[in-house]
Amino acid sequence: HQTTRRHTPRSLVTLQTPIVALTAYTTPMARLLDPHCDLLLVGDSLGMVVYGMDSTLAVTPEMMAAHGQAVVRGSQKACVAVDLPFGSYQESPQQAFRVAADIMARTGAGCVKLEGGREMADTIAFLVQRGIPVIGHIGLKPQAVHAHGGFRTVGRGAEATQIMEDAVAVEQAGAFAVVIESTMEPVARAISEKLSIPTIGIGASPACGGQVLVTEDMLGLFPDFTPRFVRRFANLGQEVDRAVAAYAQAVRSHSFPGPEECVGLTETP
Ligand code: KIV
Ligand code: NA
Repeated sequence: HQTTRRHTPRSLVTLQTPIVALTAYTTPMARLLDPHCDLLLVGDSLGMVVYGMDSTLAVTPEMMAAHGQAVVRGSQKACVAVDLPFGSYQESPQQAFRVAADIMARTGAGCVKLEGGREMADTIAFLVQRGIPVIGHIGLKPQAVHAHGGFRTVGRGAEATQIMEDAVAVEQAGAFAVVIESTMEPVARAISEKLSIPTIGIGASPACGGQVLVTEDMLGLFPDFTPRFVRRFANLGQEVDRAVAAYAQAVRSHSFPGPEECVGLTETP
């Protein structure tokens, strides 16, 4: 029984407060995040965070569909967005539609996100005109990490104008929101002021219409690589280490399981 209606792309756009977004890949994490978030993003960052890959390039539509299903099952209130992974949509608008429609149908997600600016405008328009709400993703595009020359901040010099043009193209194509990643603050601010759709920042600007982080980064659960834009709201990695050390000690000293954790020892018939 659902008491609150789930956010839709339309209701996100009319929110009077900044859009609160986090990544989610699993049902238990989605359950924890859902009460606090407007948008849960099943990011292709799961390739790095969950599967230990060193980029997002090898993530497949199958993986996105499986994790998308898990997150939809674990959430009630937040809108769920699923990333289209590298190689599954760049070839043509038709290819993008087939993959996006399949992911939407199999997961029940409310929208998809895809990376790209001007070069993806036709594709975004093709999807939106056929009933698939789209979030754009500009600035640093992790699927283009090799073209960018690494994970870095973009938008210096001539890049600033290009990113602004990307933002305008994505909005004109019909995206209902756009993620701006790892971009010089004044550029992200100028885009946020210019566009009428909400911008969702990650390493961008407080002037964005919302913010997103990778949940494992902000919880201190993914120590491999922490960009400057991550704020650690908790240190759960340390907590897990402490708990697992205590478990190992309890097993090795035969103090786990105790009598109360066994059946038939303390029970009176
Ligand atoms: O894959 C991802 O997690 C993302 C967000 C960081 C925006 O695209
Ligand atoms: Na992504």
